[in-house]
Amino acid sequence: MSTLAVKPWDDDETGNGIDGDQVLNALTATVIAVDETGAIQYINAAGEQFLRASAGNLMHQSLADLLPADSPLFSLIDQARAHQQAVSEYDITIETPRIGRHFVNLHAALAPDCPGMVVVTVFPRSIADKIDRQLTHRGAARSVTAMASLMAHEVKNPLSGIRGAAQLLEDSENEENRGLTSLIRDEVDRICALVDRMGLFTDEAQVRRDAVNIHQVLDHVHQIARNGFAKGIRFVTNFDPSLPSVRGDRDQLVQVFLNLVKNAAEAVPDSGGEIILESAYRHGIRMALPGGGDRVELPLVISVIDNGAGITEDLRPYLFDPFVSNKPDGSGLGLALVAQIVQGHGGIIECESDQKRTVFKVFLPMFTETEAS
Ligand SMILES: Nc1ncnc2c1ncn2[C@@H]1O[C@H](COP(=O)(O)OP(=O)(O)O)[C@@H](O)[C@H]1O
Ligand SMILES: [Mg+2]
Repeated sequence: MSTLAVKPWDDDETGNGIDGDQVLNALTATVIAVDETGAIQYINAAGEQFLRASAGNLMHQSLADLLPADSPLFSLIDQARAHQQAVSEYDITIETPRIGRHFVNLHAALAPDCPGMVVVTVFPRSIADKIDRQLTHRGAARSVTAMASLMAHEVKNPLSGIRGAAQLLEDSENEENRGLTSLIRDEVDRICALVDRMGLFTDEAQVRRDAVNIHQVLDHVHQIARNGFAKGIRFVTNFDPSLPSVRGDRDQLVQVFLNLVKNAAEAVPDSGGEIILESAYRHGIRMALPGGGDRVELPLVISVIDNGAGITEDLRPYLFDPFVSNKPDGSGLGLALVAQIVQGHGGIIECESDQKRTVFKVFLPMFTETEAS
């Protein structure tokens, strides 16, 4: 197997001494470029491993001769061409007797300077694996649930006291404080609902499928954050006002973004901390719903971005596992719950992090009228 992939493009166009080929060959993801006839025009070293052949052998071969015709890879390439945009598909199995079975996420994009050329990136599954792996922690989560339901009674008693007190204050206080007291009441209600529903870790059947305005969810989370745990942190909201409704469970989605924003608030520096909440509509992200069957589009992308010091290297592989925390009094349940809820919604969560910035992206399905009936 050769280590030097063949390339149709010039190296070192930038003149900075870096050979683009070396960069692509360092990737663990497979990168393949195919022309309009489906013939391979470029493949990196990971691609050689993936297809179990040398670049020399693979060059100009038709991808259709190497992979089964019904492989989702081909429909993805067609889609990228048809819509003239990048498309991704998650949670795909690619299998042939020769290359074995691979669980991957796929991305297909047009090469801007090469007409007809599509660049396919095949990522070994990572985030999706993590979410799956979470299911193996159900046992651990269940014991948390058992304890929680035991405690529920004890928690709900004082909560009803707090709620009653907030209500009394609401009648007597001025306008500004009334906003805060109703916030107390709403949050107490949410805790009660949460306690009632601690089955969340074990029971996915309970996810509601309502039309949820995600901006209302984010506004609510923002309000809680800036009046509480994120006081003094600068918030930037960057919403796409035309975003359609998410299909999901409002309370659970509040839970998701509250956890993400809380982590962000705990990560940002004491001065100059900034959290960005973003929403966008993006075509071409698809994933199978839990339980198999249809693949759903996940066009709604909500990002929580912070300028903290990033997620430490040692935590990354376990980020979504329960009880993973590096905070003195952290429970390590936040992201486990987030992953569980996102998965229950048929969505996916991705995380990118470096020493200056951490981005959590949540991809969610859109509400459609047909489902309502
Ligand atoms: N935005 C972030 N920036 C840096 N680290 C983070 C961020 N979000 C999560 N983490 C890391 O992931 C760990 C797990 O988070 P989580 O499950 O919410 O548990 P907890 O917040 O109780 O520690 C955290 O302890 C932290 O180390
Ligand atoms: Mg947390």
